[in-house]
Amino acid sequence: MDHPIAVIDFGSQYTQLIVRRIRELGYFSKLYQPEELRETGSPAAVILSGGPRSTREPGAPDIDFDYLVELGVPVLGVCYGMQLLNRKFGGEVAPGNTREYGPATLMIEAGVDSLFDGLQGHSQIWMSHSDTVSVLPEGCAVTGRNLDGVPVALKWNERFFGIQFHPEVSHTKEGVDILKNFLALAKDLPTFKIASFKDELVERVRAEVAGRKVVCGVSGGVDSSVLAALIHEAGVDTRNIFVDTGLLRENEAAEVQSLFAEVGIAIETIDASERFLTALKGVADPEEKRRIIGRLFVDVFFDAVGDDVELLAQGTLYPDVIESATSGSIASTIKTHHNRVDRIMELKKAGRVIEPLDALFKDEVRELGRVLGLPERVVGRHPFPGPGLAVRCPGEVTPEKLEIIRKADKIYIDILRQRHWYDSVWQAYAAIIPVKTVGVKGDERSYEYALSLRAVTSEDAMTAEWVHLPYELLAEASNRILNEVPGINRVLYDISTKPPASIEWE
Ligand code: XMP
Repeated sequence: MDHPIAVIDFGSQYTQLIVRRIRELGYFSKLYQPEELRETGSPAAVILSGGPRSTREPGAPDIDFDYLVELGVPVLGVCYGMQLLNRKFGGEVAPGNTREYGPATLMIEAGVDSLFDGLQGHSQIWMSHSDTVSVLPEGCAVTGRNLDGVPVALKWNERFFGIQFHPEVSHTKEGVDILKNFLALAKDLPTFKIASFKDELVERVRAEVAGRKVVCGVSGGVDSSVLAALIHEAGVDTRNIFVDTGLLRENEAAEVQSLFAEVGIAIETIDASERFLTALKGVADPEEKRRIIGRLFVDVFFDAVGDDVELLAQGTLYPDVIESATSGSIASTIKTHHNRVDRIMELKKAGRVIEPLDALFKDEVRELGRVLGLPERVVGRHPFPGPGLAVRCPGEVTPEKLEIIRKADKIYIDILRQRHWYDSVWQAYAAIIPVKTVGVKGDERSYEYALSLRAVTSEDAMTAEWVHLPYELLAEASNRILNEVPGINRVLYDISTKPPASIEWE
Protein backbone atom coordinates (compact mmCIF):
# COMPACT_ATOMS: atom_id res chain seq x y z
CA MET A 1 0.00 0.00 0.00
CA ASP A 2 1.41 3.37 -1.00
CA HIS A 3 1.86 6.26 1.41
CA PRO A 4 1.46 4.51 4.74
CA ILE A 5 1.20 6.52 7.89
CA ALA A 6 4.59 5.56 9.27
CA VAL A 7 4.87 5.00 13.00
CA ILE A 8 8.50 4.98 14.09
CA ASP A 9 9.05 2.66 17.04
CA PHE A 10 11.27 3.90 19.82
CA GLY A 11 10.28 0.95 21.99
CA SER A 12 7.23 2.10 23.94
CA GLN A 13 4.90 -0.67 25.04
CA TYR A 14 2.08 1.33 23.44
CA THR A 15 3.55 1.78 19.95
CA GLN A 16 1.45 -0.93 18.37
CA LEU A 17 -1.65 0.78 19.68
CA ILE A 18 -0.88 3.89 17.63
CA VAL A 19 -0.99 1.76 14.48
CA ARG A 20 -4.24 0.19 15.62
CA ARG A 21 -5.94 3.49 16.39
CA ILE A 22 -5.08 4.83 12.95
CA ARG A 23 -6.40 1.71 11.28
CA GLU A 24 -9.57 2.00 13.33
CA LEU A 25 -9.93 5.47 11.83
CA GLY A 26 -9.87 3.76 8.43
CA TYR A 27 -6.30 4.61 7.33
CA PHE A 28 -3.36 2.34 6.63
CA SER A 29 -0.51 2.56 9.08
CA LYS A 30 2.68 0.57 9.59
CA LEU A 31 5.39 0.34 12.18
CA TYR A 32 9.05 0.95 11.30
CA GLN A 33 12.27 0.93 13.28
CA PRO A 34 14.06 4.32 13.48
CA GLU A 35 16.76 3.19 11.05
CA GLU A 36 14.08 2.22 8.52
CA LEU A 37 12.86 5.77 7.94
CA ARG A 38 14.02 5.74 4.34
CA GLU A 39 12.16 2.46 3.77
CA THR A 40 8.83 4.11 4.49
CA GLY A 41 8.79 5.20 0.83
CA SER A 42 6.69 8.31 0.65
CA PRO A 43 4.66 8.23 3.84
CA ALA A 44 1.58 10.42 4.19
CA ALA A 45 2.58 11.33 7.74
CA VAL A 46 5.10 10.22 10.33
CA ILE A 47 4.57 9.58 14.04
CA LEU A 48 7.54 9.15 16.35
CA SER A 49 6.52 6.90 19.23
CA GLY A 50 7.36 6.96 22.90
CA GLY A 51 10.14 4.85 24.32
CA PRO A 52 11.68 3.68 27.59
CA ARG A 53 15.06 5.41 27.13
CA SER A 54 16.14 9.00 27.68
CA THR A 55 17.16 11.02 24.63
CA ARG A 56 20.07 12.25 26.77
CA GLU A 57 21.62 8.79 27.13
CA PRO A 58 24.60 7.98 24.92
CA GLY A 59 23.46 5.63 22.16
CA ALA A 60 19.75 6.43 22.65
CA PRO A 61 17.68 5.70 19.53
CA ASP A 62 17.92 8.49 17.01
CA ILE A 63 16.26 9.54 13.77
CA ASP A 64 17.60 10.87 10.49
CA PHE A 65 16.22 14.34 11.08
CA ASP A 66 17.34 15.85 7.76
CA TYR A 67 15.46 13.15 5.90
CA LEU A 68 12.43 13.61 8.13
CA VAL A 69 12.35 17.30 7.22
CA GLU A 70 12.96 16.51 3.55
CA LEU A 71 9.89 14.25 3.47
CA GLY A 72 7.75 17.37 3.76
CA VAL A 73 4.88 15.62 5.57
CA PRO A 74 3.24 16.24 8.98
CA VAL A 75 5.23 14.78 11.87
CA LEU A 76 3.98 14.07 15.38
CA GLY A 77 6.37 13.25 18.21
CA VAL A 78 4.82 11.38 21.14
CA CYS A 79 6.63 11.39 24.51
CA TYR A 80 10.18 10.26 23.60
CA GLY A 81 9.39 11.39 20.05
CA MET A 82 8.55 14.89 21.27
CA GLN A 83 11.70 15.15 23.35
CA LEU A 84 13.79 13.97 20.43
CA LEU A 85 12.23 16.51 18.10
CA ASN A 86 12.72 19.29 20.63
CA ARG A 87 16.43 18.54 20.73
CA LYS A 88 16.63 18.29 16.95
CA PHE A 89 15.14 21.76 16.67
CA GLY A 90 17.81 23.09 19.04
CA GLY A 91 15.97 22.86 22.38
CA GLU A 92 16.82 20.78 25.42
CA VAL A 93 15.29 18.16 27.69
CA ALA A 94 16.14 17.52 31.32
CA PRO A 95 15.20 15.01 33.98
CA GLY A 96 11.76 15.91 35.38
CA ASN A 97 11.32 16.54 39.09
CA THR A 98 9.38 13.34 39.46
CA ARG A 99 8.52 10.50 37.19
CA GLU A 100 5.07 11.30 35.85
CA TYR A 101 3.02 8.19 35.33
CA GLY A 102 -0.74 7.97 35.04
CA PRO A 103 -3.58 10.39 34.50
CA ALA A 104 -2.95 14.12 34.15
CA THR A 105 -4.78 17.13 32.79
CA LEU A 106 -4.04 18.90 29.54
CA MET A 107 -4.70 22.62 29.61
CA ILE A 108 -4.95 23.87 26.08
CA GLU A 109 -3.29 27.21 25.35
CA ALA A 110 -5.79 29.68 24.01
CA GLY A 111 -5.17 31.38 20.70
CA VAL A 112 -2.57 28.95 19.36
CA ASP A 113 -3.35 26.75 16.38
CA SER A 114 -2.85 23.21 17.54
CA LEU A 115 -3.99 19.62 17.26
CA PHE A 116 -6.59 20.31 19.91
CA ASP A 117 -9.41 21.82 17.85
CA GLY A 118 -12.74 20.68 19.18
CA LEU A 119 -11.34 19.40 22.50
CA GLN A 120 -12.42 20.57 25.93
CA GLY A 121 -10.15 23.14 27.58
CA HIS A 122 -9.18 20.64 30.27
CA SER A 123 -8.75 17.19 28.84
CA GLN A 124 -7.70 14.02 30.64
CA ILE A 125 -4.46 12.64 29.30
CA TRP A 126 -2.15 9.73 30.16
CA MET A 127 1.49 10.33 30.95
CA SER A 128 4.40 7.95 31.25
CA HIS A 129 7.74 9.75 31.28
CA SER A 130 10.53 11.05 33.44
CA ASP A 131 12.35 13.51 31.14
CA THR A 132 10.68 16.77 30.29
CA VAL A 133 11.43 19.60 27.84
CA SER A 134 13.49 22.31 29.57
CA VAL A 135 14.60 24.70 26.82
CA LEU A 136 12.40 25.52 23.87
CA PRO A 137 14.04 26.43 20.58
CA GLU A 138 13.23 29.73 18.93
CA GLY A 139 9.94 29.75 17.10
CA CYS A 140 8.53 26.85 19.10
CA ALA A 141 5.02 27.43 20.49
CA VAL A 142 3.64 25.79 23.60
CA THR A 143 0.17 24.50 22.72
CA GLY A 144 -0.66 22.79 26.01
CA ARG A 145 0.54 22.55 29.62
CA ASN A 146 -0.17 20.31 32.59
CA LEU A 147 -1.68 21.69 35.81
CA ASP A 148 1.80 22.71 37.01
CA GLY A 149 2.26 24.84 33.92
CA VAL A 150 4.88 22.49 32.41
CA PRO A 151 4.70 22.37 28.59
CA VAL A 152 3.25 19.03 27.46
CA ALA A 153 2.40 19.95 23.86
CA LEU A 154 4.58 21.80 21.38
CA LYS A 155 4.48 23.02 17.83
CA TRP A 156 7.79 23.80 16.18
CA ASN A 157 6.33 24.86 12.83
CA GLU A 158 3.28 24.18 10.65
CA ARG A 159 4.25 20.52 10.17
CA PHE A 160 6.04 19.43 13.34
CA PHE A 161 4.05 18.75 16.52
CA GLY A 162 4.85 17.11 19.81
CA ILE A 163 2.82 15.79 22.72
CA GLN A 164 4.28 14.52 25.97
CA PHE A 165 1.30 12.23 26.66
CA HIS A 166 0.00 9.13 24.89
CA PRO A 167 -2.97 9.77 22.56
CA GLU A 168 -3.17 6.06 21.73
CA VAL A 169 -4.18 4.77 25.16
CA SER A 170 -7.84 4.85 26.10
CA HIS A 171 -7.07 6.76 29.31
CA THR A 172 -6.34 9.80 27.15
CA LYS A 173 -10.00 10.62 26.72
CA GLU A 174 -9.75 12.61 23.51
CA GLY A 175 -6.66 10.88 22.13
CA VAL A 176 -8.39 9.65 18.99
CA ASP A 177 -9.58 13.20 18.21
CA ILE A 178 -6.01 14.44 18.55
CA LEU A 179 -4.83 11.77 16.09
CA LYS A 180 -7.68 12.70 13.74
CA ASN A 181 -6.71 16.38 13.87
CA PHE A 182 -3.12 15.46 13.14
CA LEU A 183 -4.04 13.22 10.20
CA ALA A 184 -6.25 15.97 8.78
CA LEU A 185 -3.02 17.85 8.01
CA ALA A 186 -1.80 15.04 5.73
CA LYS A 187 -2.41 14.73 2.00
CA ASP A 188 -3.28 11.49 0.16
CA LEU A 189 -4.17 9.55 3.27
CA PRO A 190 -4.17 5.82 2.47
CA THR A 191 -7.62 4.49 3.26
CA PHE A 192 -7.88 1.00 4.63
CA LYS A 193 -10.86 -1.27 4.02
CA ILE A 194 -10.64 -5.01 4.32
CA ALA A 195 -12.83 -5.70 1.29
CA SER A 196 -10.51 -3.81 -1.05
CA PHE A 197 -7.43 -4.96 0.84
CA LYS A 198 -8.56 -8.53 0.08
CA ASP A 199 -8.14 -7.97 -3.67
CA GLU A 200 -4.71 -6.53 -3.04
CA LEU A 201 -3.80 -9.59 -0.95
CA VAL A 202 -5.03 -12.01 -3.62
CA GLU A 203 -2.84 -10.22 -6.15
CA ARG A 204 0.08 -10.29 -3.75
CA VAL A 205 -0.31 -14.02 -3.17
CA ARG A 206 -0.36 -14.68 -6.93
CA ALA A 207 2.71 -12.52 -7.48
CA GLU A 208 4.69 -14.00 -4.61
CA VAL A 209 3.78 -17.57 -5.47
CA ALA A 210 4.75 -17.03 -9.10
CA GLY A 211 3.55 -20.44 -10.21
CA ARG A 212 5.29 -22.36 -7.43
CA LYS A 213 3.64 -25.10 -5.44
CA VAL A 214 2.51 -23.95 -1.99
CA VAL A 215 2.31 -25.92 1.20
CA CYS A 216 0.14 -24.50 3.91
CA GLY A 217 -0.05 -25.64 7.51
CA VAL A 218 -3.61 -25.45 8.79
CA SER A 219 -4.64 -25.76 12.41
CA GLY A 220 -8.36 -25.04 12.28
CA GLY A 221 -7.68 -21.73 14.01
CA VAL A 222 -8.75 -18.42 12.57
CA ASP A 223 -5.40 -17.33 11.12
CA SER A 224 -4.47 -20.46 9.20
CA SER A 225 -8.06 -20.98 8.02
CA VAL A 226 -8.20 -17.46 6.63
CA LEU A 227 -4.80 -18.00 5.05
CA ALA A 228 -5.95 -21.23 3.38
CA ALA A 229 -9.11 -19.51 2.16
CA LEU A 230 -7.13 -16.58 0.77
CA ILE A 231 -4.74 -18.86 -1.10
CA HIS A 232 -7.69 -20.89 -2.35
CA GLU A 233 -9.28 -17.66 -3.60
CA ALA A 234 -6.04 -16.82 -5.42
CA GLY A 235 -6.44 -20.11 -7.32
CA VAL A 236 -2.99 -21.33 -6.36
CA ASP A 237 -1.91 -25.00 -6.40
CA THR A 238 -1.74 -25.85 -2.67
CA ARG A 239 -1.42 -28.73 -0.24
CA ASN A 240 -3.02 -27.97 3.10
CA ILE A 241 -1.49 -30.04 5.87
CA PHE A 242 -3.10 -30.49 9.26
CA VAL A 243 -0.83 -31.93 11.94
CA ASP A 244 -2.50 -33.66 14.85
CA THR A 245 0.06 -33.01 17.57
CA GLY A 246 -1.86 -34.89 20.23
CA LEU A 247 -2.05 -31.54 21.97
CA LEU A 248 -5.41 -30.62 20.50
CA ARG A 249 -8.75 -30.18 22.17
CA GLU A 250 -11.50 -32.79 22.36
CA ASN A 251 -12.54 -33.97 18.91
CA GLU A 252 -10.65 -31.14 17.26
CA ALA A 253 -9.05 -33.09 14.41
CA ALA A 254 -12.42 -34.37 13.21
CA GLU A 255 -14.02 -30.95 13.48
CA VAL A 256 -11.32 -29.30 11.43
CA GLN A 257 -11.76 -31.96 8.73
CA SER A 258 -15.48 -31.34 8.45
CA LEU A 259 -15.09 -27.61 8.58
CA PHE A 260 -12.72 -27.47 5.62
CA ALA A 261 -14.82 -29.97 3.71
CA GLU A 262 -17.73 -27.57 4.13
CA VAL A 263 -15.92 -24.69 2.42
CA GLY A 264 -14.52 -26.92 -0.31
CA ILE A 265 -10.86 -26.86 0.69
CA ALA A 266 -9.01 -30.19 0.74
CA ILE A 267 -6.77 -30.94 3.72
CA GLU A 268 -4.45 -33.82 4.57
CA THR A 269 -4.31 -34.87 8.21
CA ILE A 270 -1.16 -36.33 9.74
CA ASP A 271 -1.49 -38.05 13.08
CA ALA A 272 1.78 -37.36 14.86
CA SER A 273 0.46 -37.47 18.41
CA GLU A 274 2.73 -40.35 19.47
CA ARG A 275 5.82 -38.51 18.23
CA PHE A 276 4.93 -35.36 20.11
CA LEU A 277 4.07 -37.06 23.37
CA THR A 278 7.24 -39.13 23.25
CA ALA A 279 9.40 -36.08 22.57
CA LEU A 280 7.81 -34.21 25.46
CA LYS A 281 8.30 -37.02 27.98
CA GLY A 282 10.07 -35.77 31.09
CA VAL A 283 10.32 -32.17 29.85
CA ALA A 284 8.98 -29.54 32.27
CA ASP A 285 10.63 -26.28 31.21
CA PRO A 286 8.14 -24.10 29.29
CA GLU A 287 10.59 -22.73 26.73
CA GLU A 288 12.08 -26.18 26.17
CA LYS A 289 8.59 -27.58 25.59
CA ARG A 290 7.89 -24.85 23.05
CA ARG A 291 11.17 -25.45 21.27
CA ILE A 292 10.53 -29.18 21.05
CA ILE A 293 6.99 -28.71 19.76
CA GLY A 294 8.02 -26.03 17.28
CA ARG A 295 10.90 -28.09 15.86
CA LEU A 296 8.97 -31.33 15.75
CA PHE A 297 6.06 -29.61 14.08
CA VAL A 298 8.34 -28.48 11.31
CA ASP A 299 9.95 -31.96 11.05
CA VAL A 300 6.61 -33.74 10.86
CA PHE A 301 5.39 -31.24 8.38
CA PHE A 302 8.42 -31.60 6.11
CA ASP A 303 8.47 -35.39 6.48
CA ALA A 304 4.94 -35.35 5.17
CA VAL A 305 5.49 -33.09 2.22
CA GLY A 306 8.98 -34.34 1.33
CA ASP A 307 11.01 -32.25 -1.10
CA ASP A 308 7.81 -31.05 -2.55
CA VAL A 309 7.90 -27.71 -0.73
CA GLU A 310 8.71 -24.90 -3.03
CA LEU A 311 6.95 -22.39 -0.88
CA LEU A 312 5.59 -22.44 2.63
CA ALA A 313 2.62 -20.25 3.56
CA GLN A 314 2.26 -19.13 7.15
CA GLY A 315 -0.54 -17.32 8.94
CA THR A 316 1.79 -14.95 10.76
CA LEU A 317 0.00 -11.81 11.91
CA TYR A 318 1.26 -8.29 12.38
CA PRO A 319 1.64 -8.47 16.16
CA ASP A 320 3.85 -11.59 15.74
CA VAL A 321 6.03 -9.73 13.27
CA ILE A 322 6.35 -6.78 15.60
CA GLU A 323 7.12 -8.98 18.60
CA SER A 324 9.92 -10.71 16.75
CA ALA A 325 11.30 -7.52 15.26
CA THR A 326 11.34 -5.50 18.42
CA SER A 327 12.22 -8.14 20.97
CA GLY A 328 15.68 -6.63 21.28
CA SER A 329 14.45 -3.16 22.01
CA ILE A 330 11.41 -3.67 24.17
CA ALA A 331 12.01 -4.81 27.70
CA SER A 332 9.43 -7.57 27.75
CA THR A 333 9.73 -11.32 27.85
CA ILE A 334 8.63 -12.77 24.60
CA LYS A 335 7.90 -16.40 24.20
CA THR A 336 9.49 -18.45 21.48
CA HIS A 337 7.01 -18.05 18.70
CA HIS A 338 5.83 -21.08 16.86
CA ASN A 339 6.11 -19.37 13.51
CA ARG A 340 9.66 -18.27 14.08
CA VAL A 341 11.63 -21.42 14.82
CA ASP A 342 15.08 -21.76 13.25
CA ARG A 343 14.18 -23.99 10.34
CA ILE A 344 11.48 -21.64 9.20
CA MET A 345 13.83 -18.69 9.62
CA GLU A 346 16.23 -20.47 7.24
CA LEU A 347 13.47 -21.01 4.71
CA LYS A 348 12.49 -17.41 5.12
CA LYS A 349 16.00 -16.25 4.38
CA ALA A 350 15.93 -18.39 1.26
CA GLY A 351 12.79 -16.56 0.14
CA ARG A 352 10.63 -19.66 0.47
CA VAL A 353 8.06 -18.45 2.97
CA ILE A 354 5.08 -16.26 2.28
CA GLU A 355 3.14 -14.59 5.08
CA PRO A 356 0.28 -12.79 3.35
CA LEU A 357 -1.47 -11.83 6.61
CA ASP A 358 1.60 -10.17 8.09
CA ALA A 359 0.14 -6.66 7.93
CA LEU A 360 -3.10 -7.51 9.74
CA PHE A 361 -4.32 -7.51 13.30
CA LYS A 362 -6.47 -10.37 14.57
CA ASP A 363 -9.81 -8.62 14.24
CA GLU A 364 -8.86 -7.58 10.71
CA VAL A 365 -8.08 -11.22 9.89
CA ARG A 366 -11.53 -12.18 11.17
CA GLU A 367 -13.05 -9.51 8.95
CA LEU A 368 -11.05 -10.80 5.99
CA GLY A 369 -12.31 -14.32 6.75
CA ARG A 370 -15.89 -13.05 6.57
CA VAL A 371 -15.20 -11.30 3.27
CA LEU A 372 -13.76 -14.59 1.98
CA GLY A 373 -16.97 -16.37 2.97
CA LEU A 374 -15.76 -18.41 5.92
CA PRO A 375 -18.54 -19.35 8.36
CA GLU A 376 -18.85 -17.52 11.69
CA ARG A 377 -17.99 -20.78 13.44
CA VAL A 378 -14.47 -20.42 12.03
CA VAL A 379 -13.88 -16.68 12.14
CA GLY A 380 -15.40 -16.30 15.59
CA ARG A 381 -13.24 -19.00 17.11
CA HIS A 382 -11.12 -18.18 20.12
CA PRO A 383 -7.37 -18.11 19.47
CA PHE A 384 -5.61 -21.38 20.22
CA PRO A 385 -1.84 -21.38 20.75
CA GLY A 386 0.46 -23.23 18.36
CA PRO A 387 1.90 -25.44 21.15
CA GLY A 388 -1.68 -26.39 22.00
CA LEU A 389 -2.64 -27.83 25.35
CA ALA A 390 1.04 -28.14 26.31
CA VAL A 391 1.00 -24.50 27.46
CA ARG A 392 -2.09 -25.24 29.55
CA CYS A 393 -0.35 -28.10 31.28
CA PRO A 394 2.45 -26.66 33.43
CA GLY A 395 5.28 -29.11 34.03
CA GLU A 396 5.48 -32.40 32.19
CA VAL A 397 2.84 -33.14 29.57
CA THR A 398 1.28 -36.56 30.08
CA PRO A 399 -1.67 -38.26 28.37
CA GLU A 400 -3.46 -38.37 31.73
CA LYS A 401 -3.23 -34.60 32.24
CA LEU A 402 -4.18 -33.90 28.62
CA GLU A 403 -7.27 -36.05 29.02
CA ILE A 404 -8.29 -34.06 32.09
CA ILE A 405 -7.81 -30.71 30.32
CA ARG A 406 -9.76 -31.90 27.27
CA LYS A 407 -12.76 -33.08 29.24
CA ALA A 408 -12.87 -30.02 31.48
CA ASP A 409 -12.31 -27.58 28.62
CA LYS A 410 -15.14 -29.10 26.59
CA ILE A 411 -17.56 -28.77 29.50
CA TYR A 412 -16.50 -25.16 30.17
CA ILE A 413 -16.64 -24.06 26.53
CA ASP A 414 -20.01 -25.77 25.97
CA ILE A 415 -21.42 -23.87 28.94
CA LEU A 416 -19.99 -20.58 27.67
CA ARG A 417 -21.69 -21.20 24.35
CA GLN A 418 -25.01 -22.25 25.87
CA ARG A 419 -25.07 -19.20 28.09
CA HIS A 420 -24.08 -16.89 25.20
CA TRP A 421 -20.76 -15.82 26.66
CA TYR A 422 -18.47 -17.45 24.11
CA ASP A 423 -18.61 -14.64 21.56
CA SER A 424 -18.09 -11.86 24.05
CA VAL A 425 -14.85 -13.17 25.48
CA TRP A 426 -11.54 -13.07 23.63
CA GLN A 427 -10.37 -16.41 24.87
CA ALA A 428 -11.44 -18.98 27.44
CA TYR A 429 -10.01 -22.31 28.43
CA ALA A 430 -9.27 -24.81 31.18
CA ALA A 431 -5.72 -25.47 32.38
CA ILE A 432 -4.56 -28.09 34.79
CA ILE A 433 -2.69 -27.02 37.92
CA PRO A 434 -0.35 -29.93 38.54
CA VAL A 435 -0.58 -29.77 42.28
CA LYS A 436 -2.44 -32.48 44.13
CA THR A 437 -4.62 -31.41 47.01
CA VAL A 438 -6.77 -33.24 49.48
CA GLY A 439 -10.52 -33.50 49.07
CA VAL A 440 -13.43 -35.80 49.77
CA LYS A 441 -15.21 -37.78 47.09
CA GLY A 442 -18.10 -39.96 48.21
CA ASP A 443 -16.98 -41.00 51.64
CA GLU A 444 -13.37 -41.26 50.68
CA ARG A 445 -10.37 -39.01 50.87
CA SER A 446 -9.24 -37.89 47.42
CA TYR A 447 -5.84 -36.57 46.46
CA GLU A 448 -6.13 -35.07 43.00
CA TYR A 449 -5.15 -32.22 40.69
CA ALA A 450 -6.65 -28.73 40.66
CA LEU A 451 -8.00 -27.06 37.56
CA SER A 452 -8.03 -23.43 36.53
CA LEU A 453 -10.68 -21.82 34.35
CA ARG A 454 -9.77 -18.63 32.53
CA ALA A 455 -11.76 -16.16 30.43
CA VAL A 456 -10.28 -12.90 29.22
CA THR A 457 -11.17 -9.94 27.09
CA SER A 458 -8.39 -8.38 25.12
CA GLU A 459 -7.38 -6.23 22.22
CA ASP A 460 -4.93 -8.34 20.28
CA ALA A 461 -3.65 -10.21 23.32
CA MET A 462 -1.14 -7.53 24.28
CA THR A 463 -3.03 -6.83 27.48
CA ALA A 464 -5.99 -8.70 28.93
CA GLU A 465 -8.65 -8.33 31.58
CA TRP A 466 -10.33 -11.28 33.26
CA VAL A 467 -14.03 -11.57 32.52
CA HIS A 468 -16.57 -11.13 35.30
CA LEU A 469 -18.49 -14.28 34.44
CA PRO A 470 -21.69 -14.78 36.42
CA TYR A 471 -21.32 -16.90 39.54
CA GLU A 472 -24.08 -19.19 38.29
CA LEU A 473 -22.08 -19.98 35.17
CA LEU A 474 -18.94 -20.64 37.19
CA ALA A 475 -20.91 -22.77 39.62
CA GLU A 476 -22.34 -24.86 36.81
CA ALA A 477 -18.92 -25.32 35.22
CA SER A 478 -17.31 -26.20 38.53
CA ASN A 479 -20.03 -28.68 39.52
CA ARG A 480 -20.01 -30.44 36.20
CA ILE A 481 -16.23 -30.62 36.03
CA LEU A 482 -15.95 -31.96 39.57
CA ASN A 483 -18.60 -34.57 38.85
CA GLU A 484 -17.67 -35.55 35.33
CA VAL A 485 -13.88 -35.27 35.12
CA PRO A 486 -11.93 -37.92 37.00
CA GLY A 487 -8.67 -36.73 38.52
CA ILE A 488 -9.88 -33.26 39.60
CA ASN A 489 -11.15 -32.31 43.04
CA ARG A 490 -10.74 -28.54 42.97
CA VAL A 491 -11.70 -25.84 40.41
CA LEU A 492 -10.39 -22.27 40.51
CA TYR A 493 -11.21 -19.20 38.43
CA ASP A 494 -8.21 -17.19 37.28
CA ILE A 495 -8.62 -13.48 38.11
CA SER A 496 -5.26 -12.27 36.82
CA THR A 497 -4.85 -9.44 34.34
CA LYS A 498 -2.15 -9.41 31.68
CA PRO A 499 0.28 -7.96 32.62
CA PRO A 500 1.60 -9.23 34.91
CA ALA A 501 0.16 -12.68 34.09
CA SER A 502 0.08 -13.87 30.51
CA ILE A 503 -3.05 -15.25 28.93
CA GLU A 504 -1.71 -18.80 28.79
CA TRP A 505 -0.07 -20.53 31.72
CA GLU A 506 3.20 -20.98 29.89
P1 XMP B 1 0.13 -15.01 26.20
O1 XMP B 1 0.08 -16.28 26.98
O2 XMP B 1 1.49 -14.67 25.69
O3 XMP B 1 -0.75 -15.27 24.93
O4 XMP B 1 -0.49 -13.85 26.94
C1 XMP B 1 -1.15 -14.28 24.03
C2 XMP B 1 -1.95 -14.91 22.92
O5 XMP B 1 -1.10 -15.68 22.07
C3 XMP B 1 -1.50 -17.04 22.06
N1 XMP B 1 -0.25 -17.80 22.05
C4 XMP B 1 0.29 -18.36 20.98
N2 XMP B 1 -0.14 -18.46 19.72
N3 XMP B 1 1.78 -19.70 19.15
C5 XMP B 1 0.60 -19.15 18.81
O6 XMP B 1 0.22 -19.28 17.65
C6 XMP B 1 2.29 -19.64 20.40
O7 XMP B 1 3.36 -20.15 20.68
C7 XMP B 1 1.49 -18.94 21.36
N4 XMP B 1 1.65 -18.67 22.67
C8 XMP B 1 0.57 -17.96 23.07
C9 XMP B 1 -2.34 -17.22 23.29
O8 XMP B 1 -3.27 -18.29 23.15
C10 XMP B 1 -3.01 -15.88 23.42
O9 XMP B 1 -4.12 -15.76 22.55
